[in-house]
Amino acid sequence: MKVTIIGAGAVGATAADNIARKEIASEVVILDIKEGFAEGKAMDLAQTASIEGFDTKITGVTNDYSKTAKSDVIVVTSGIPRKPGMTREELIGTNAKIVGGVVKSALEVSPKAVIVIVSNPMDTMTYLTYKIAAEMGISKRKVIGMGGALDSARFRYRLGEALGVAQSDLHGMVIGGHGDTTMIPLTRLATWNSIPVSRFLSAEALKEVSDKTMVGGATLTGLLGTSAWYAPGAAIGQVVESILRDEKKIIPSCVYLNGEYGQKDICLGVPVVIGRNGWEKIVTLRLSNEEKAAFEKSADAVRAMNAAL
Ligand code: NAI
Ligand code: 2OP
Repeated sequence: MKVTIIGAGAVGATAADNIARKEIASEVVILDIKEGFAEGKAMDLAQTASIEGFDTKITGVTNDYSKTAKSDVIVVTSGIPRKPGMTREELIGTNAKIVGGVVKSALEVSPKAVIVIVSNPMDTMTYLTYKIAAEMGISKRKVIGMGGALDSARFRYRLGEALGVAQSDLHGMVIGGHGDTTMIPLTRLATWNSIPVSRFLSAEALKEVSDKTMVGGATLTGLLGTSAWYAPGAAIGQVVESILRDEKKIIPSCVYLNGEYGQKDICLGVPVVIGRNGWEKIVTLRLSNEEKAAFEKSADAVRAMNAAL
């Protein structure tokens, strides 16, 4: 199994590290436009193999797509990250040019790959990729935007903090857009080992968990001076693992909606079953009126961003 990661920056390299350490793929190719950068990151990562005990082959290339040919999964992290005070949406102009170009080049040599979009604004970049893939005759099921996996991990972190219990015992999903005001942490459905968390947390405490989850990316950008990479890299690993190992995990992800959740011609975060062929099934949740209204608001905001394309 071969995975190509485009963009050897903070997120791309951390994703490569996760995929290699867990031997999710036998080969990882990292590609960057900056001369020698991907080669350097790949060499550094490969030198952890004997210590960490993995055999995944890691190589780096400068803009040479021929080396990425016949990949099973392509992860797109190329683009500029957020700086403090910037929204994900402000990245649209620069990143649309970068993402559009790399997606075409990568899919030309790996037409059977599942493509995972990470670059921001992710919902719009996924929509752009869906359009490019459709023109190339590639199924919508092969285009997955990664945002919900990360936001759900941040949601579980905040739930763990509020309850004072292990995150691994908590389950919760974030749907909607991957934006500070567009994501929807589903507090109503979150559980502590299958018991609704509303049994243990007040409405005010749950609202605080939700609010902190929604600004999770901005909080880290404020602290770090750029956007985060450890949890994003791990979340990419989770999605890639579900694809390559055909795990069929339900992971909230940004996919093309054609009437599901009352939305058409948009890519937005919903729970999907992820397996070897990409997203296999959209899981339809019965949303409350409040959640439905939030989902519609989220769709309006993402649609406005898509119009900027
Ligand atoms: P970074 O600046 O560390 O890395 C980006 C890399 O892309 C750089 O090495 C740059 O040289 C490369 N690049 C730029 N143009 C390229 C091209 N045409 N071809 C190949 N490589 C090119 O940024 P970082 O922190 O890794 O973030 C990457 C992207 O991921 C950003 O857009 C960021 O906002 C987004 N992000 C998305 C998340 C999500 O959940 N969807 C989470 C975290 C970050
Ligand atoms: C994050 O959520 C900025 O999308 C990036 O960390």
